[in-house]
Amino acid sequence: MTGRWTPESWREKPIKQQPEWPNPAVLAEVEARLRTYPPLVFAGEARRLKAALAEAAEGRAFVLQGGDCAESFADFRANNIRDTFRVLLQMAVVLTFGAALPVVKLGRMAGQYAKPRSADTETVGGLTLPSYRGDVVNGPDFTPEARVADPTRMEKGYFQSAATLNLLRAFAQGGYADLHEVHRWNLGFVERSPLSERYQDLTQRIDETLAFMGACGMNSINTPQIRETDFYTSHEALLLNFEQALTRVDSTSGNWYACSAHFLWIGDRTRQPDGAHVEFLRGVANPLGVKAGPTQTPDDLLRICDTLNPDNELGRLTVIARMGADKVEAKLPPLLRALAREGRKVTWVCDPMHGNTVKAGDYKTRSFDAILKEVQGFFDAHEAEGTYAGGVHFEMTGQDVTECLGGAHRITEATLADRYHTFCDPRLNAEQSLELAFLIAEELKARRLPERKRLAAAS
Ligand code: PEP
Ligand code: CO
Repeated sequence: MTGRWTPESWREKPIKQQPEWPNPAVLAEVEARLRTYPPLVFAGEARRLKAALAEAAEGRAFVLQGGDCAESFADFRANNIRDTFRVLLQMAVVLTFGAALPVVKLGRMAGQYAKPRSADTETVGGLTLPSYRGDVVNGPDFTPEARVADPTRMEKGYFQSAATLNLLRAFAQGGYADLHEVHRWNLGFVERSPLSERYQDLTQRIDETLAFMGACGMNSINTPQIRETDFYTSHEALLLNFEQALTRVDSTSGNWYACSAHFLWIGDRTRQPDGAHVEFLRGVANPLGVKAGPTQTPDDLLRICDTLNPDNELGRLTVIARMGADKVEAKLPPLLRALAREGRKVTWVCDPMHGNTVKAGDYKTRSFDAILKEVQGFFDAHEAEGTYAGGVHFEMTGQDVTECLGGAHRITEATLADRYHTFCDPRLNAEQSLELAFLIAEELKARRLPERKRLAAAS
């Protein structure tokens, strides 16, 4: 069915969503240089993440994946990285404490630069230019110069990913993520929000728990789980020239790994079972994701499972469902049923962002209520089918933006313009993200605890 895989066998397959490179010679030079650069991640880390995702597939952990729709070269600042990391930590602590489940933390960070687009070109005032495809390809400004696909941007993306990852590793392991610091993660503007009290209450309970554990002899020095956390990176594997150039053989296992991030996913527009993206990713041993929108069919999803996960390994494949709040009830169960019927093991994650994008005047936005509704529909479908809701995937930022409607501060169509900064899709701000984490923790607690009690009683 499938031929021999090599890091470049994708080049023989039909491919979507790629830029036109005006200068193939420069492209080849950049690819050659990237091939000589150090990998950004170590294969052992990707294997560890795979094991954590396997736990989530079976309901013993929960995945929290989040970050910008598109990272940008212009926003490359320590504070931006820190603030997004900090909100993810806050959300993770809310989920861990609320649902008593380990949380797998996966940033859409340190490499989320390439974007698929609904049209190849954009027309404004009679001028038609190539669409913006993310900073690793071209620039967002609507000028002919900015929109030319420039391969040297891939090199800039590599170095920026490396610097971002370096800071994330320092935060995750250098003491910033110590649970004793939990009350300091609150961001200034969230302190003025109705959620602040709730978060302070939680941090107080965590402090008391840590004091109790300390009295029992467990502290940050002798218990590294208190002092540091595992934080993984992920992005859409869209620009295969870049991904191929960062693919390396792992000397420990002899397997190929995509070394641009721990986890790579295939977008909803590039998931054709016979296409180039599926071909490239089948040959690397990282844990993988594939988006499933409302047009995904059970048969195609099964074919994707066959190709990407022929050994049916737990943790290898995550299906990220992004149906839309009004479609999840009809579209998700047939996929859950088909995979269960065929005994396919995947981790199910809900992306409640991409099926809920609407236009409000000149702005693309999403409503908090639709996002929450899709998450609830996702949980309902899993409960009905006896499968596990394994995690959530958000477009979010640590900044106080006004891009999504609703939430505790009730962002309205009239206030969207105040701080609408995204280069691509609308993101949840820090406060909206935290609010969702509290609501999801409640869902998890209500749905999982009775089951765990039942299992404990039966054993
Ligand atoms: C994305 O995650 O930014 C994205 C484009 O999603 P999808 O492929 O699901 O549309
Ligand atoms: Co997006």
